[in-house]
Amino acid sequence: MLRKRLSLDEATRSKDLSGKTYIVTGANSGVGLETTRQLVRQGGHVVLACRRIDAAEEAARSFSGLKGSHEAMRLDLADLQSVRDFVAEFTANHDRLDGLACNAGLVSMGREPEYTKDGLEMTIGVSYFGHFLLTELLLDTLRASAPSRMAIVSSVVHAGSDKNRPNVDLDDLNNRRREFRNFAAYAEAKVATVLYAKELAERLDGTGVTVFSLHPGWARSNFGSGGSLPIRVAMAVMRPLSRLVSDSNEESAQTTLHCLLSDTAANHSGAYFSQSSVLYRDKQCRQGGWPMETPNPNAKNMETARRLVDLSYDVVGLSTPNKPV
Ligand SMILES: NC(=O)c1ccc[n+]([C@@H]2O[C@H](COP(=O)([O-])OP(=O)(O)OC[C@H]3O[C@@H](n4cnc5c(N)ncnc54)[C@H](OP(=O)(O)O)[C@@H]3O)[C@@H](O)[C@H]2O)c1
Repeated sequence: MLRKRLSLDEATRSKDLSGKTYIVTGANSGVGLETTRQLVRQGGHVVLACRRIDAAEEAARSFSGLKGSHEAMRLDLADLQSVRDFVAEFTANHDRLDGLACNAGLVSMGREPEYTKDGLEMTIGVSYFGHFLLTELLLDTLRASAPSRMAIVSSVVHAGSDKNRPNVDLDDLNNRRREFRNFAAYAEAKVATVLYAKELAERLDGTGVTVFSLHPGWARSNFGSGGSLPIRVAMAVMRPLSRLVSDSNEESAQTTLHCLLSDTAANHSGAYFSQSSVLYRDKQCRQGGWPMETPNPNAKNMETARRLVDLSYDVVGLSTPNKPV
């Protein structure tokens, strides 16, 4: 494949991260694992925020001998109390946070919607609302550690096509009043993450905390592996074929790492970054870009972004927006 993949420049790849602390959600697998590995390799301390501690500890064994350090902490993004408990424990033990990678995500593979412990539709509940609460509760720590950064992992699917641009349904964020379609729900959740990055960047302007959304690439990860038997068989068949156009997990971690570490990314708070990807329906987007313009106008509508955030405060049970004074 003649596609040029974007990767970290040498200066960014060799930065010394000693003394810096990062949180990576979904760090036990795929893109999150390789993001974590590089941060540890460069000397950072990384909290692997995972719903399965045993899986996090197992994954972290592969970091042995790397320069930095790491710890595993339990975080189930499908349970808002777990998010609160995680932040309480993190802030009790750490006084700084240099980077937060909101990486965990899933696509619900069933025909029927699943719900989180708090009754939120699972896809948007984990990818967006869980991360929303996590982020809002960590904002004071991020501000106190400025310059600090957040990388929010979205997906190419947020872009849609010129015939169908996904949008968030502000009247039915939890997909209760519509027929459930799992990939449409995934696209909507990923539009929410792009909008949130834009709103947060606006709110945090001047604080030294910068925030980015991104598409990691077509990662050969565990993504979608929890489907029914026919879906798993189809994916197993497709995997060797898709190797030509898909990316290793290390290649898919490059965009998150660029957002967290590169000097140039910091000048583009609120922007969308993307690995090159054959998955864009809009051909002009396939080369990706650090940053690039999303082709979906719904994902850059600031009025929608602000309304989404206001509604999200109610959904996760936060009373007043944590706006900088
Ligand atoms: N793979 C792709 O081609 C692709 C393309 C575009 C965007 N993305 C995005 O990239 C991100 C990383 O995905 P990946 O490809 O690396 O897939 P992955 O290997 O399946 O990793 C997903 C991670 O999310 C975690 N997770 C799921 N539900 C969670 C919950 N309730 N609480 C905490 N963590 C939870 C998983 O934990 P468990 O191991 O316990 O399940 C796993 O660590 C996702 O946001 C995904 O939407 C992926």
